[in-house]
Amino acid sequence: MTEVTSPETLSYGELEIAFDDRVLRPRPWTAAQSRWAADVARTAPDGPVLELCSGAGHIGLLAVHASGRRLVCVDANPAAVELTARNAAAAGMADRVETREGWIREVLRPGETFPVVVADPPWVPAADTGRFPEDPLLAIDGGEDGLVVVREVLDALRRHLAPGGTALLQLGTTAQADAVATALQGSGLVPGELREYGDHGVLLRLDRPA
Ligand SMILES: C[S@@+](CC[C@H](N)C(=O)[O-])C[C@H]1O[C@@H](n2cnc3c(N)ncnc32)[C@H](O)[C@@H]1O
Repeated sequence: MTEVTSPETLSYGELEIAFDDRVLRPRPWTAAQSRWAADVARTAPDGPVLELCSGAGHIGLLAVHASGRRLVCVDANPAAVELTARNAAAAGMADRVETREGWIREVLRPGETFPVVVADPPWVPAADTGRFPEDPLLAIDGGEDGLVVVREVLDALRRHLAPGGTALLQLGTTAQADAVATALQGSGLVPGELREYGDHGVLLRLDRPA
């Protein structure tokens, strides 16, 4: 049985976020994804924000905390779901945050759509995961080319991103963003602005025209 230490907390934007060693330690730079999502949500169609691969839930929680939008957080790790619910309650948002435990491909319902999606899938190629011994493998292992879970996210976006909606996808490199753009040709999802954050990663905007 894995020994669990009591949660630490850190300040993340306006929020205090609890996490422990069962999940990825929140990275401060990812607040840029929350801020961008909050900007997008100001003019997006009505409806809840979806966060895929939520970990402790901080990116999605910070994205919606000022707007009043509802948030649906998905993660396969039960500890992530537990911490997301705890962090939502601590931020006074328990009544508008829903958590779903499971694989992305299993927990979204037929016909369900979301006008804004933030996604933070693992993107480290399996052979390189040993470089990050502090991080839980489920949180970082993106399979042989780093894009196995990213492809699961793209499949979910094809089905569940609403017309007029926008997704903000976190990736490791501009090369991965190019691979995503190629994979989406003819899908109805349109790659847009790419924001780069040095060695930390990149954020790619994907739109579904109305
Ligand atoms: C890169 S971490 C991001 C966590 C958090 N958003 C953050 O920034 O710290 C990826 C998360 O995806 C979850 N995950 C990995 N594969 C998944 C899948 N196929 N379906 C749902 N969640 C998955 C992991 O448990 C992990 O919490």
